[in-house]
Amino acid sequence: MNAHPKPVEELIDPKLLRRVYGAFATGVTVVTVGGQNPHAMTANSFTAVSLDPALVLVCVERNAIMHRALLDGRNFGVSVLASDQEEVALYFADRRRPLGAAQFEYGTWRTGEHTGAPLLEGAVAHLECELWRAYDGGDHTIFLGRLLALERHVDDDGLLFLCGKFRGLDQLPAKVTT
Ligand SMILES: Cc1cc2nc3c(=O)[nH]c(=O)nc-3n(C[C@H](O)[C@H](O)[C@H](O)COP(=O)(O)O)c2cc1C
Repeated sequence: MNAHPKPVEELIDPKLLRRVYGAFATGVTVVTVGGQNPHAMTANSFTAVSLDPALVLVCVERNAIMHRALLDGRNFGVSVLASDQEEVALYFADRRRPLGAAQFEYGTWRTGEHTGAPLLEGAVAHLECELWRAYDGGDHTIFLGRLLALERHVDDDGLLFLCGKFRGLDQLPAKVTT
């Protein structure tokens, strides 16, 4: 028996890893922090966690600007993107976008009453959260938020992300392979 097996990460093909992770269909959100240093970031790791207390999570890469912003800001907003908001998703995933208040010149925003976090108009739902816990998630941190407020706005389908592509429910091919 090999006493020192190779760490599994060395055996995994990174491309395969991404393809396998990408086979799990998700919605797409923009996570936001308000205050003096407002920031927004596209995230599809958003997940509902608990009904009582009402908790959600988002996993944020440790070297993302959003990582520091969440730890400093403690409160955050989540805008669940509508099927016609693919461009917004791309914009807030682009590291070349302007930082601070200037990034919010893209899109139409209002300020969340409970958190001061920017909330994107046209999103299908908004959540406002206070940071509940932050857990080690390897190269990401798992941020759990307790809901302070939530709204469902437009009677529209959410934007989907599957196999590295944005899709609307009506654009799902009969079979998706990558
Ligand atoms: C569809 C999609 C989903 C993403 N989801 C996440 C996520 O859940 N967590 C994360 O850390 N990065 C995610 N990213 C990458 C970030 O949006 C991207 O790296 C962003 O530029 C980081 O922003 P920041 O460093 O300015 O905070 C996602 C990107 C895309 C296109």
